[in-house]
Amino acid sequence: MADSIFMTAEQTDPTIDTLLARHPALGYDGQGHLMFDGVSLQELARHAGTPCWIISETVLQERATRFKEAFSHYRQSVRFHFAVKSQDHKACLSSLAQLDYGADVVSGGEMERALNAGIKAENIVFSGVGKTDDELKRAVALGIAQVNIESAEELFRLNDLALSLNRTVRVALRVNPDIDAGTHAKITTGKAENKFGIAHQHVAELYGKAQNELDGIDIVGLAVHLGSQIITETPYRTGYNKLASMVQDLRRRHLKVSVLDCGGGLGISYRNEKAPEPSMLAKVIAETLPDDVTLRLEPGRWISAPSGVLLSRIIEIKKGSRQFAIIDGGMNDLVRPAMYDAWHGILPVSKAINVRPIPYDVVGPICESSDVFARNRSLPPLEKGDLITILDAGAYGSVMSSTYNSRPFAAQIMVREGQWSIIQKRQTLDEILQRELLPSWAAG
Ligand SMILES: Cc1ncc(COP(=O)(O)O)c(C=O)c1O
Repeated sequence: MADSIFMTAEQTDPTIDTLLARHPALGYDGQGHLMFDGVSLQELARHAGTPCWIISETVLQERATRFKEAFSHYRQSVRFHFAVKSQDHKACLSSLAQLDYGADVVSGGEMERALNAGIKAENIVFSGVGKTDDELKRAVALGIAQVNIESAEELFRLNDLALSLNRTVRVALRVNPDIDAGTHAKITTGKAENKFGIAHQHVAELYGKAQNELDGIDIVGLAVHLGSQIITETPYRTGYNKLASMVQDLRRRHLKVSVLDCGGGLGISYRNEKAPEPSMLAKVIAETLPDDVTLRLEPGRWISAPSGVLLSRIIEIKKGSRQFAIIDGGMNDLVRPAMYDAWHGILPVSKAINVRPIPYDVVGPICESSDVFARNRSLPPLEKGDLITILDAGAYGSVMSSTYNSRPFAAQIMVREGQWSIIQKRQTLDEILQRELLPSWAAG
């Protein structure tokens, strides 16, 4: 378990200066107002209200470009498929499509989102552990880049569906490499006990069947996804070495392997963990995997997390043996701290000078004791009405929001070099209430 990522009492927290150094698009202006990509967060709160997601297109594109560039020295043929599950807004997907990113999707809904954002079907990879017949048929009809198969049952079902449509579909088998990537238990995907992928001892036989017996299937290679928020080299090296030996084994059996999908998972520094750059991943891949294949990569968090913040206002400071800063953003907006014990940096939106920090428990308004964003966090003295911003919320943030406690979905704003634009209006309570009907016998 990579303890350093999560909320543990013994960790030292980064200072405000360290957080700012890690997020070059954030900084205080001459009046002490926090700016994000050239836009005042105070001004955005005034226009859009709080809680509110702010996404910097500059950061998103800069990181997507940096990720791609890391691979430019090593390989001829690499395809990048942004993991839509981490951030699914149309504005983000279309921005990434401009940089020639395809999409990695895990549902029919995400597939439609990717298309709607201008990503071509031929650049979409369909992963996901439970794909319905309708979703698979749609993928076949669209002629997407590849379906990553999770089980023998799914492979045979897809073959039947493709044949019924008179088509063939490109497929990779997703291998469960049975390795521990050292991440939080709730984001581990590569261990035998996880529901994902095909046990490696069954891969060769299934691959042979797919190539030699299933006319609806065009099997092109293997896929693996080791987990998320991986911050060390070892899981990648171990996982890709296993993948490489599987390729050798398949080729010895005269089976053709032309694509290797390496998944996503590269972590970031939320707190003070030493997170690697994409160049580490590129190097490990170059040193472990054969170079006569097309590589696919499915990065999500590394690109999207630092591009987004959650802006929130303090409803109340509750004083007592502990000081609670109760904010208007809740676990229904950003669930990562409650769900994964995740640590997120928090910055005051107005800079405080020469004041002694106070330890706060920063909590949301939801009626759940897990609705806590930070415990014992040293922050400058805060008052009711002050704004704070929660960092690295661009991945697995808005996408995991709910309306729990009848709290409408927050607004979303995109910023870019001093410009801002609302990209999603705040949901209204009316919109929530309108979806509900009384049963026919009670409606009168
Ligand atoms: C199949 C697959 N690919 C890619 C990703 C993206 O992972 P990350 O956001 O950690 O890069 C995930 C997330 O768990 C995934 O399940």
